[in-house]
Amino acid sequence: MSRYTFEIDPDIRVAETLPARVYSDPELFRLQRERIFARTWQYAGHDDLVKVAGQVHPFTLLPGALDEPLLLTRDGKDEVHCLSNVCTHRGTLVADGPGFAQQLRCRYHGRRFALDGRFHSMPEFEGTANFPSPKDDLPQVPLGAWERFLLVALAPAHPFAELVAPLRARVGHLPFRELVHDAAGTRDYLVNANWALYIDNYLEGFHIPYVHSSLADTLDYGEYAVELERHMVLQLGIAKPGEPAFALPPGHRDHGRAVAAYYFWLFPTTMFNLYPWGVSVNVVTPLAVDRTKVSFIPFVWDDTKRDHGAGAGLDRVEREDEAVVEAVQRGVRSRLYERGRYSPKREPGVHHFHRLLAEFMRG
Ligand code: FES
Ligand SMILES: [Fe+2]
Repeated sequence: MSRYTFEIDPDIRVAETLPARVYSDPELFRLQRERIFARTWQYAGHDDLVKVAGQVHPFTLLPGALDEPLLLTRDGKDEVHCLSNVCTHRGTLVADGPGFAQQLRCRYHGRRFALDGRFHSMPEFEGTANFPSPKDDLPQVPLGAWERFLLVALAPAHPFAELVAPLRARVGHLPFRELVHDAAGTRDYLVNANWALYIDNYLEGFHIPYVHSSLADTLDYGEYAVELERHMVLQLGIAKPGEPAFALPPGHRDHGRAVAAYYFWLFPTTMFNLYPWGVSVNVVTPLAVDRTKVSFIPFVWDDTKRDHGAGAGLDRVEREDEAVVEAVQRGVRSRLYERGRYSPKREPGVHHFHRLLAEFMRG
């Protein structure tokens, strides 16, 4: 085993946590780009970004980690595509801002593409042999939609349908069509810590009584639950008596439980937090080995419920998490810390994440 790979015992009772170097070694972070981030599904945005035919939306996938220039389009057949935003001639960026277009036209030498990425035309290429070929089309990037949310993967190690099947089964009855993006409520937080430390912290409710006094007032710590899926962890925050919870229909598998929050984490960087008021999408963007951007993107279906229960005061909860995660980053640099152990009751989500990291780093 090289210093860039590591083992996490599948038995949580005997397992040790991630080696500290995983959170601080720049070379390990560099390897994670191809081994983890390029092979997994990443949040790309919501469907309103390309709401109508002819709309185009360029974006950079995971700036700092992948820096991949991509483009969302909705073509004349009303189909949404994710394309490479790099011109197949000499590689400049094709679209430089969001807008509307019938075709994509590269401003460097005028190559044109259809909105589904297919090569359309190119000036001055009459003498070029075997041209055009499929290599002159803009590459299509695998795109998946779960409800209003779009995810993309450069070279997916697993199918999108398998990834989101547990989401569809568990919360498919909720009114996602009614969601309104709260652009003014969107926040970016810069965290001076490795991205995986932020995920570790997200994946356990263990720290809630110690770190989040306001959240602890609304959640029943004893009932907090964790469920593992192949590339996902679901945590259920259960409301204390009298605190807001979902009204779940008879026949739903959580009917009779006071679910205050469904916390879905999709390996590696996407979180869908579902509350009675709507969905808070959290996107974790690894910027450097010890710097991470976390975006909170709210979508609302019932604004009257916004200020109560587990889904209220998210900014405060985030700052409390940020402070504790930054302290862990300072700790894992210590010469005197190597790795720890897990609580089988409280940390199965963290253990599952570490096993996925180990699996993907082995390649
Ligand atoms: S780089 Fe796009 S046409 Fe030349
Ligand atoms: Fe927290």
